Amino acid sequence: MIGAFATLAQSLLFYLDPEFAHRLTIKALQLLPSAAAAPPDDPRLATQAFGLSFSNPFGLAAGFDKNAEVPEAMARLGFGFVEIGTVTPRPQKGNPRPRLFRLVADEAAINRFGFNNKGHASVHRRLLRHPCESVPLCVNLGANKDAEDRTADYVRGIEVFADVASYFTINVSSPNTPGLRDLQESQALDDLLARVLAARDAAAERFGRKPVLLKIAPDLTLHELDPLIFVARTHKIDGLIVSNTTVARPTSLLDRVQAAEAGGLSGKPLFAPSTRMLAQAYLRIEQQFPLIGVGGIDSAETAFAKIEAGATLVQLYTALVYRGPGLIGQMKRGLLERIHQNSYQRLTDAIGTAAADWASGKASLTNRL
Ligand SMILES: Cc1cc2nc3c(=O)[nH]c(=O)nc-3n(C[C@H](O)[C@H](O)[C@H](O)COP(=O)(O)O)c2cc1C
Repeated sequence: MIGAFATLAQSLLFYLDPEFAHRLTIKALQLLPSAAAAPPDDPRLATQAFGLSFSNPFGLAAGFDKNAEVPEAMARLGFGFVEIGTVTPRPQKGNPRPRLFRLVADEAAINRFGFNNKGHASVHRRLLRHPCESVPLCVNLGANKDAEDRTADYVRGIEVFADVASYFTINVSSPNTPGLRDLQESQALDDLLARVLAARDAAAERFGRKPVLLKIAPDLTLHELDPLIFVARTHKIDGLIVSNTTVARPTSLLDRVQAAEAGGLSGKPLFAPSTRMLAQAYLRIEQQFPLIGVGGIDSAETAFAKIEAGATLVQLYTALVYRGPGLIGQMKRGLLERIHQNSYQRLTDAIGTAAADWASGKASLTNRL
């Protein structure tokens, strides 16, 4: 019944302005009855990563719930973890509208929100009032557009949210805050991680040691990826999220009109470049820390491919818009079938098994069917 209603609502939302439709979705999720919880997860889908336990590998990617309005509702829909944010110290309006575009024929989206969010104090208050207790909660941190010292904004985020976050993401890969991606360059990253991890260690005395992950862009060249991973390994970060949206516009895009909009492209066309980058990262990290794979996951097949390319956990956003929340249950069932077909004991047996093929471009979805 709820499934049929969700499908109907999903089709109606497509007639509305995308940002307004998203707002309505958040409001509807806030009304979702607590009885409508997803069934318990099969133990073969469970994973441990950076000291936390996950009952399934599917996480809600950042940007869907920027202000932590619905983390518990997303857990009830079946997500194994939820990332809220990006949150900046001071509230921000973001870029002028329109700033979210659907590329329907491509099952993709372009956004140039520019970190619109209610700011640390408001989001922190909300999480204290409505803590997310059933799944790990990640707080994705960013910097204000006009920050004089961007690194200080991330440090502030660690200090403010250390009591409520299960772990943190340092987002240095949004294409919509000018200059933000420069923080991925090794000297800047070295300073950023030193200060952020010192703040994390200082907060650990009161709230326990909170893992810190770094989220990177899919547009890095391998010459840029090498020093980034060297710095990440030197600082012993807890994990890497690969990847954010891309500024590239593949020639295969069908909706050429919307493709001309500035911003970050997500969804189906992001799958191949982000999976390749994930596999490249996996090969360089030598299992020093786990990876979260994100970009274009819209089926059990694409989720399994991310895991074979090196992901311990996966996240998604855009496919929820096109396929609706029933997708999560479908993907879990599909992963269990693949565990069975491959005679694995559990999903974690598949991690990285095809990393070399994805990294070299030999693997693709079609020849893996
Ligand atoms: C509308 C929209 C807003 C986003 N906002 C953020 C954000 O605030 N912070 C962030 O780290 N990533 C943000 N992302 C990127 C997603 O978290 C994810 O990395 C990207 O969309 C690729 O996953 P997907 O193809 O499953 O959507 C956003 C994506 C979309 C579509």
